[in-house]
Amino acid sequence: MQRALLLLLLFTARATAQTPSVDERVDALLARMTLEEKLGQLSQYTPSKPEIPEMVARGATGALFGFGNVTETNTLQRIAVEESRLKIPLLFGHDVIHGLRTIFPIPPGMASTWDPESVELASRIAAREAAAIGIRWTFSPMVDIARDPRWGRIAEGAGEDPFLGSVLAAAYVRGYQGRDLSAPDSILACAKHFAAYGAAEAGRDYNTVDMSERLLREIYLPPFKAAVDAGVWTIMTSFNTVSGVPATANAHLLTEILRDEWRFRGIVDSDFTAVQELIKHGVAATLGDAAIKAITAGVDMAMVDGSYATLAAAVNDGRLPVSVVDRSVRRVLRAKFALGLFEQPYVDESREKSVLLAREHLEAARRVAQKSIVLLRNERDVLPLAKNVATLAVIGPLADSREDMLGSWYAGGKPDEAIALLEGVRAKVSPATRILHASGGTVLSATDEEIASAVSIARQADLVLMALGEQGKMSGEANSRAFLDLPGRQQQLLEQVVAAGKPVALVVMSGRPLTIRWAAENVPAIVWAWFPGTQGGHAVADVLFGDVNPSAKLPVTIPRTLGQVPIYYNSLPTGRPEDPNHRYTTKYIDVPNSPLYPFGHGLSYTRFEYSGLSARAAGGGMVVSAEVKNAGARAGDEVVQLYINDPVATVSRPVRELKGFRRVTLAPGESRRVEFTVAREELRFWGDRGWIFEPGAFNVWVGGSSVGGVGGAVELK
Ligand code: NOJ
Repeated sequence: MQRALLLLLLFTARATAQTPSVDERVDALLARMTLEEKLGQLSQYTPSKPEIPEMVARGATGALFGFGNVTETNTLQRIAVEESRLKIPLLFGHDVIHGLRTIFPIPPGMASTWDPESVELASRIAAREAAAIGIRWTFSPMVDIARDPRWGRIAEGAGEDPFLGSVLAAAYVRGYQGRDLSAPDSILACAKHFAAYGAAEAGRDYNTVDMSERLLREIYLPPFKAAVDAGVWTIMTSFNTVSGVPATANAHLLTEILRDEWRFRGIVDSDFTAVQELIKHGVAATLGDAAIKAITAGVDMAMVDGSYATLAAAVNDGRLPVSVVDRSVRRVLRAKFALGLFEQPYVDESREKSVLLAREHLEAARRVAQKSIVLLRNERDVLPLAKNVATLAVIGPLADSREDMLGSWYAGGKPDEAIALLEGVRAKVSPATRILHASGGTVLSATDEEIASAVSIARQADLVLMALGEQGKMSGEANSRAFLDLPGRQQQLLEQVVAAGKPVALVVMSGRPLTIRWAAENVPAIVWAWFPGTQGGHAVADVLFGDVNPSAKLPVTIPRTLGQVPIYYNSLPTGRPEDPNHRYTTKYIDVPNSPLYPFGHGLSYTRFEYSGLSARAAGGGMVVSAEVKNAGARAGDEVVQLYINDPVATVSRPVRELKGFRRVTLAPGESRRVEFTVAREELRFWGDRGWIFEPGAFNVWVGGSSVGGVGGAVELK
C-alpha cells in the first residue's frame, strides 16, 4: 500500500516536472514574439475585412468574431496554425446571448424565470452549439442593470435588481464556461458592459452616465462582481462615460476595482470601436493617444478599430512600456491555453449537424420559455383557455410572426425554425375548433380596413386572443424609444376589438416594459411573453391553454406611463412620502407613484398564501422564514421572495431590497416553510470609504412580489 502511494507520488512529481504550467508556456511563447505579433494578439476584428486571411498569416490579429459556420472558422484557423510564424490559434467570438441556433427567451425572459438552473441550462446549450461551429467565446452575459425602459438594451439584461442580476450572472458564467474550460463544448463568457451602461441619461443609448460611488457599488457593479467570483474569463467595457471618464479609459473601474479589489485575471475587451471613440469623447487627440489611454487603464484587447496596432510606435519611442503590452498578451494567451486551443484548434465538422437544434435543445428551449411567461392579470379566470372552444379569433401583428419570436439579436437563430404563436395555438386546440386569424396591420401601421376586418372576426368568435407589442428589432442596441406605448395603431386595434364584447386574452411581446395602462384596466387577461425564442409559440400556448401553470415573475417594473421613468422598486425613501391628501409630498398631480405592475409580480392559475413570518438573528446575519400555501385547486410553482429594509442608518437606505428567492412547487392545499439565511455581509452598504455593516433593526418581508407579503422585524447586534 505504502509502496503504491510512493510510486504514485513519484509519478505525479515527474509528470509535473515534465509538463510546464500554463504560465510557463505563456512566458516561453511571449519571449519569442515580436512587438507586432504581440499587438496582433490584442487586436480583434470581424471577418468582413478582405485582408483578414493575410493578417492572420502575419500574426496581425489573434481574435475574430461574428461567424456563421464551422467551415469559416476552421479555414481561418488553419491559416493561423499552419501559416503564421508562431502558430498561435485564433480565438473566435460571437454575440451568443440567448442561444446560438436554438434560441431561448431574450434575457429579461430568462430573468423572469427567477431560476438559475434554467439560465445555466440555456447557456450550457448555447455553449455546446457555439463550440460546435468553432466559437469559443461569447459576448454574454450582459449584466447591466437597467431602470429605464427607454433604453433598448434592457432587452439584453436581467432587469433592474442587483441581487437577482448577480445570481443569474453567475449562472450564465457557469453554463457557458462549464466545469472544465478545455472541454470542447465550453466557451469563455464575457460580462458586459463594464460599467453602468444601463444608466445612460434619458435612456438614450451610448449617452452619458454620472452617478455616485454608492449607486455604482450597490446597484450597477454587483452582477459584475458575481460574474468575477463565478470565474468569468472576460469582461467588455462600455461605451459610456462614468462621471466624466469614459469606461474604456477608466482606471478606477478597470484597474482599481476590477483588478486590484476583485482580483480579476482574465481579458478586458473594449466594445466595438470604443477605443477609437475616446477621441469623440474628447479625452484623446489621436488614435495613438486613445490606444495608450485604454491599455494603460486596463483594456487588453481592442475591438475592430485597429487602434492597438498604433501601440508599436508608442513602445518604440518610449511613450508606453512594453511591460504593459506584455501583461495584456499574457492574459490573452492564458485564455487560449485554458481553452485547449493549442492542443485542439479545429472543430470536428461532422458534429455541427447533430448538435445544432438537437431535439433535447428544443425541448429545453420550450421548458425554459414556459417558465419565462408572466401572467400579469387574469380577471374572471379568462385563462386558461378551453381547448375545445368553438371559434377562436387570433388577432394582432405578432400572432403569426416567426421572426419576432426570436427578439432583436439572435446569433445563428433562423426565423424559419421558430414557432409562431398561431402555430402553437393550432397545435393545441381541438380539431373541431375553428380558428380565425387577422393581423390587424403591422406593428408599425394599419389601415382602417385591416382594423375593421380584425373586429369582424372578433365578433364571430367565442374567444379572442390578441398578440400585440413591439417588433423583435425594436429593442436591443441603438433602439432607444421616447414613447413606451404600443407602437403603430395597435392601441386602436385593441380598443376596437375589445369593444366587440368578447372575452379577450392579450399576449404582449416586447423587449422592454410598455405602458399598457388601458389594457390593464380593460382587458381581463394579460400575459407578458417577452420574445420567447425558437419554441415560443408552443410555450405560450402551453401557458394559455393551461398545460403549464405560469410561474414567472417580472424582473423589472412596468410603469403606468413614461413620465414615471426611471421607476424601480428599490428606491430611496424621501422626506415627504407620497400622500394624495397633502400637496407638498413627493408625487405627480396626474398619476400615482406606484407602477402598473411591480418588480417581482406574476400570477399563477392557483393562489398562494403567506403566513407565519419568523425572523431571528443568526451568525451575525439573519434567518427569515415564512409559510407558503397553495390555496387553490391546481399544482403550481411559486417564486418566494425575501425583501429587507434598514430603517435607520447613517445613509438613506432603499425602501426594500431583494435578499433571497426560492422557486417551490406545491400541490393543491400543500404548505411549505421556506427559510432564507442572509449573511451579515449581504446587509452591508457602501459607506464613505467602503462596505460597512450597521447594527440595529431591519424590516423583512416574505411574499410573491416586491409589494405586500408577510412582514416583521429583526434586531441585529
Ligand atoms: C456592440 C455591442 O455593444 C456589444 O454588446 C457586442 O458584443 C459587440 N457590438 C459585438 O457585436
